[in-house]
Formats: sequence, structure tokens, C-alpha cells
Amino acid sequence: MGSRTALTWLTVALAISPWAISARGAEIPSDAAINPAAPTMTLEPKVVVNSGRLEWAPFKRDLSSWPTLSHEDKRDTAKTRKVTMTEPLNGDAARGRDLAMRRDKGYCVICHQLPSEKWPGTVGVNLTHFKQHKYPDAAVYQEIFDARVLNPNTAMPPYGTNHILNDQEIRDLVAFLQSIE
Ligand code: HEC
Repeated sequence: MGSRTALTWLTVALAISPWAISARGAEIPSDAAINPAAPTMTLEPKVVVNSGRLEWAPFKRDLSSWPTLSHEDKRDTAKTRKVTMTEPLNGDAARGRDLAMRRDKGYCVICHQLPSEKWPGTVGVNLTHFKQHKYPDAAVYQEIFDARVLNPNTAMPPYGTNHILNDQEIRDLVAFLQSIE
């Protein structure tokens, strides 16, 4: 993968932060900067407007369920999970859209182009006009639940397997994607 993904950016950014320490015994890799007082939390870069500088603010989420792209990330990751979505879908497209756009949570828009989003990430495939593919709901559900079923080396986090999103949230996202004309 040639392009720099959000997660590599995060990893690189954290590695140059003043809090970079070697993570003795901690679960996330040593080349990610962690606050020693809270080893599963990292810092996030904040742009200081018109200064050319970044400031580092504690990122208050537990990142231990997120795989990183760090070469030093030797954590065991949960095994790839194949799931069968029970029909009917019962998803709420509006709620799914809200989730997909949550940049602060590291959800879909940080990697995928989505309608009416000006600054999406580009590591993932373009999801605008998604409906045209006519993928079965269950296949889209599986992709979000654990994309490693199709590509063991994917950069996309296994949202279901790692309990980042629950069953209903994944259904809402499927409903949203399937509604994108
Ligand atoms: C860290 C980047 C990243 C994030 C975040 C991410 N994805 Fe992906 N996604 C990818 C990549 C890369 C692919 C390409 C396929 C692969 O690598 O397996 C992909 C593929 C997909 C596909 C298959 C599209 C197709 O036409 O084949 C769907 C659907 C999808 N992602 C949905 C989502 C949703 C919904 C979210 C948010 C819950 C999300 N992705 C978050 C990186 C990401």
C-alpha cells in the first residue's frame, strides 16, 4: 500500500510526539506514543490554525481494540470472524450515515469517499454511488463486521469482531451504504 493512511499518519505522528516512550509491557506498540499513565490511550494531533504547528491532545479513547499499521505491533489480534447476517436487515440509513461520518471515532469517512463529504480519506474505495453494485446486504454486513474474510491484510478495522460497532450499528451502516444512489 503506497499511500499514507490515516492510521499510518496517526502512528507516525505519535512517534514524533514528546510523549513517545517505549511501551514496556503495554499492549499497543512502542512506536506509538502513549501516555504512561494510561497506556491504552494515545495523543491526537490538533492543527494550530495559521501557525504551521500541531499540538498534541490526549485522545481519550481506549485504542486497544484497534489494529495499527505499526511494524512493531505484535499484539494478538482477534481471529477473523465469518458471520451470517439474519434477515431482514432492519437498518436505519439516517443513523448509519451519522455513524459513517464520525471522524472523531475513526469511522468510515476517514478512509472512504462518501456523498457530501469534502475531505474524506482515500485509502478505502470510493463509496459514493454504492447502490449501483447491488451487493447483497449480508456481504456488506460481513465486510464491515470483519473485512479480513475477503482480504486478510486489509487496512479496514474489523468493526464487529473487535466490538467497535454492535450488530444494530452495522445494520444501520449497511442500510446507509445500500441507499447511496
Ligand atoms: C483504515 C481505513 C478504513 C476504514 C476506517 C474503513 N474502511 Fe472500508 N475499506 C478500506 C479498504 C482499504 C477497503 C478495500 C478492500 C480491502 O482492503 O479489503 C475497504 C473496503 C470497504 C468496502 C467494500 C467496498 C467494495 O465496493 O468492495 C465497504 C463496503 C467498506 N469498506 C465499508 C466501510 C465502512 C461502512 C466503514 C466504517 C464503519 C469503513 N469501511 C471503514 C479501508 C477502511
